[in-house]
Amino acid sequence: MPGIPMRSGGSKARIAVIPGDGIGAEVTPQAVRVLKAVCASGNRALEFVEFDWGADKYLREGVTLPPGAVELLRDEYDAILFGALGDPRVPLNQHAADILLGLRFKLDLYVNARPVELLHDRLTPLRDRTEKDIRLIVFRENTEGLYVGVGGVFKQGTPDEIAVQEDVNSRKGVERIIRYAFEYARQNRLKRLCMSDKSNAMTFAHGLWQRVFKEVRQEYTDIDSRHLYIDTLAMEIIRDPRQFDVIVTCNLFGDIISDLGAQLAGGLGLAPSGNIHPGKTSLFEPVHGSAPNIAGKGIANPLGSVLTSAMLVEFLGWKPQAAAIRAAVRAALRENYVTPDLGGNRSTVEVADWLVQLVGKADFAEQLK
Ligand code: NAD
Ligand code: IPM
Ligand code: MN
Repeated sequence: MPGIPMRSGGSKARIAVIPGDGIGAEVTPQAVRVLKAVCASGNRALEFVEFDWGADKYLREGVTLPPGAVELLRDEYDAILFGALGDPRVPLNQHAADILLGLRFKLDLYVNARPVELLHDRLTPLRDRTEKDIRLIVFRENTEGLYVGVGGVFKQGTPDEIAVQEDVNSRKGVERIIRYAFEYARQNRLKRLCMSDKSNAMTFAHGLWQRVFKEVRQEYTDIDSRHLYIDTLAMEIIRDPRQFDVIVTCNLFGDIISDLGAQLAGGLGLAPSGNIHPGKTSLFEPVHGSAPNIAGKGIANPLGSVLTSAMLVEFLGWKPQAAAIRAAVRAALRENYVTPDLGGNRSTVEVADWLVQLVGKADFAEQLK
């Protein structure tokens, strides 16, 4: 999937690593190993600093996002490599809301880029679809919508209880994500863009999406743009994924459609994402969560996090390194050197070991010159 380098492309960068909970803590260190290996052979210097933010710290110290954390990340780091947050011991995942949504909002990471790319034909559950058929990117609005935490409960615990969760959409917020999606399409010569909402039912919030879309698309007549309601999009993406290059949608629908897309391309274990503010410190994480059902078993698929780190180095402007990481992942898939979720019998660490030795080989390193 082509990308846009979004931060100045020096040969050094500082990366904050937040492994988080469950399998986040298992896969992230493996992605760091692969990153180190690929950067060592390509003469790029990455400095990693790890932060222990997550459920354990919250339960121990009552701290979620420590004071000064946002300024520290914003001022001293180029990017953040994030694992996952979520722990059954933490009611309503308060720490995830504070840390993950907190960073998305406070760093103003308004683009959530979630590529859906089939890397090997055998990985899709769709019949007769091949690699060339499943290649799209979802741009999820990432700072507004139903995620802003505006609302409340009234008469809690009584039969008359009421819960309200507001859907907040600003013209500025809607316009910048739609515009970003169009720009991405144009810069990467992708022909088709689909904006998806539910304006037939959510007439106020998504009426705004409609108005902004109609305005902005007039500036991009070189791109074949259209609108689908989100329910129809969910159906069409399964019926014929070849129709889509770029999808842009709101925060909640982007969350759902990106898991659906992930499954079309082999499952959550393989899906990367970037939470981006062009030119500013941005956060990269696999689409999956902490997977408590497999945490601690050493079988989590590290490839989602590894592909996430490819997006991270691409953001730094290091295209050969990104290409090398993706080539290594494709090789592992070809050789079926994979974890059980993809039908293999390798462990998290074995897959990472294999990738590290591959990217360290002289002929592989040659591609980075
Ligand atoms: P999940 O993504 O953690 O897991 C869903 C299913 O996919 C599980 O069966 C899991 O075993 C499987 N899976 C996910 N990643 C995998 C991998 N790398 N390798 C192999 N299998 C993998 O979603 P969930 O179970 O709904 O959520 C668990 C927790 O994670 C919740 O607390 C949720 O809020 C949180 N969560 C966090 C993030 C994040 O931090 N970005 C994202 C999604 C969910
Ligand atoms: C994701 C996750 C998060 C989201 C949760 C953990 C709040 O599902 O990154 O996709 O909904 O954005
Ligand atoms: Mn999600």
